[in-house]
Amino acid sequence: MSLAKINSMALNGIDGYIVTVELDISNGLPSFDIVGLPDPSVKESKERVKAALKNSNYICPVKRITVNLAPADKKKEGPSFDLPITVAILQASEQIKEPIPDDCAFLGEVSLDGKLRHINGVLPMIICAKENGIKKVFLPLDNAKEASVVDGVEIYGAESLVQIVKHLSGEESIEQTTTDIDELFRQFSEYKVDFADVKGQQSVKRAIEVAVAGNHNILMIGSPGSGKSMIAQRIPTILPSLTFEEALETTKIHSISGVLDSKVPLVTTRPFRSPHHTISAIGLIGGGTNPRPGEISIAHNGVLFLDELPEFQRNALEVLRQPLEDGEVSISRISASYTYPSNVLLAASMNPCKCGYYGDPNHECTCSPIQIQKYMGKISGPLLDRIDIHIEVPSVTYSDISSTKTEESSTEIKKRVEKARMVQLERYKDEGIYTNSQLSSSQLRKYCKLTPEINEILRSAFDSLGLSARAHDRILKVARTIADLEGEAEISISHIGEAIQYRSLDRKYWGV
Ligand SMILES: Nc1ncnc2c1ncn2[C@@H]1O[C@H](COP(=O)(O)OP(=O)(O)OP(=O)(O)O)[C@@H](O)[C@H]1O
Ligand SMILES: [Mg+2]
Ligand SMILES: [Zn+2]
Repeated sequence: MSLAKINSMALNGIDGYIVTVELDISNGLPSFDIVGLPDPSVKESKERVKAALKNSNYICPVKRITVNLAPADKKKEGPSFDLPITVAILQASEQIKEPIPDDCAFLGEVSLDGKLRHINGVLPMIICAKENGIKKVFLPLDNAKEASVVDGVEIYGAESLVQIVKHLSGEESIEQTTTDIDELFRQFSEYKVDFADVKGQQSVKRAIEVAVAGNHNILMIGSPGSGKSMIAQRIPTILPSLTFEEALETTKIHSISGVLDSKVPLVTTRPFRSPHHTISAIGLIGGGTNPRPGEISIAHNGVLFLDELPEFQRNALEVLRQPLEDGEVSISRISASYTYPSNVLLAASMNPCKCGYYGDPNHECTCSPIQIQKYMGKISGPLLDRIDIHIEVPSVTYSDISSTKTEESSTEIKKRVEKARMVQLERYKDEGIYTNSQLSSSQLRKYCKLTPEINEILRSAFDSLGLSARAHDRILKVARTIADLEGEAEISISHIGEAIQYRSLDRKYWGV
């Protein structure tokens, strides 16, 4: 036989698709060609494959070798075709004599000495393999754990090419890699931080609880050292537990982005991402010539924290708006379009002014009113429109810090959050939304009705506090969440009152 067909997989956005590696060896001038829209990184395969064969004591035929990666109309990239191409050469040249069943697939980078190397994006490719009836996948041992979280596909992780050939020839079999998902969740679903670590700051914790309960984006304003970063880091700990489906989705993105923890093959806790303020728009939402997910997608199903919000590039903040609204990022290229999910709770922090101490009782602010206005003006209006809750974080007091009182744990807060989330799920089951933060204007009118009396109070609060019109809908949504936390069907005056408190930036002379 001089023709071989080997199954492999490739990535398109966050999903895999089947690629058939067709290889033909014929007489003629020695050559090695790869066709089927390979990019330069795939073409480099040739050199690795040749060296790996030689160094593993196999023969690379000195003939005319042609590889076609089908379907030929999709652009292929990366080193993951090394292994299927090598196996195809070995089969076409009868160095592997046993037939390779149709339900087997291969993927992985091969190094010059014949060892197999870790590749990115394995999880989505295995999910695709399963959907296409593939029963066995051979890949680098370093990827085996991650691959084995998909049930229904046998995973064989190998360290070297030789090991794979011996297995296929029936000489020495490779042990199958398996994973107990429940055990993974038991072992790794704990967070390393807890709200019990945060002393005092009751009003801030309450605001965070409200934000998480209704999935409202939140902005924390406070002087340096007041604990904004510490609090933000703990937000994932009170979000409802990750479901297996959510875990798979987030792991797919981490797998593609190469940020998956090598010891934990499945993302079992909600991600927390805190990109530096120098990040570009592409870094935040994804893109590039070979599109990659951005930070907002790596944070999918978790928290995206923008520390020191005014320091971010304005255009980077502006591009965030659409993905925040849609829960996904769409990227179009001539050859294809990609969609990356980006369902996050956005938390942001900022100082109240350039020097950091405007409004702080213990430090004097050295900024002029114009400087303060300028500082606040740096945050993008469109992005601010996506943030329902603003909360001032006061400096922590000495008596709070030194107190030995036990603070409430994340588990306790999370219970209340989960209850409020259930109420919302039930209420919106026919609306296609899940949380109060997603309410449209027409849904607001339906689900956040106020009595004429409360309406009147809200109106006069608007006048006396000088609230802007855009605050109105956000106050209603947040009041709905506060009522849900209390298990109340109707929004009361106290719910509205608390929600108004969470519009700091619409008050004072900040007025952005
Ligand atoms: N309420 C608190 N309870 C316990 N420790 C606290 C509290 N607030 C602050 N700290 C301590 O102070 C440190 C600084 O807090 P953190 O870095 O979160 O402040 P920040 O508001 O983010 O400051 P910056 O504006 O400088 O970024 C924390 O690491 C923590 O050790
Ligand atoms: Mg900080
Ligand atoms: Zn200042």
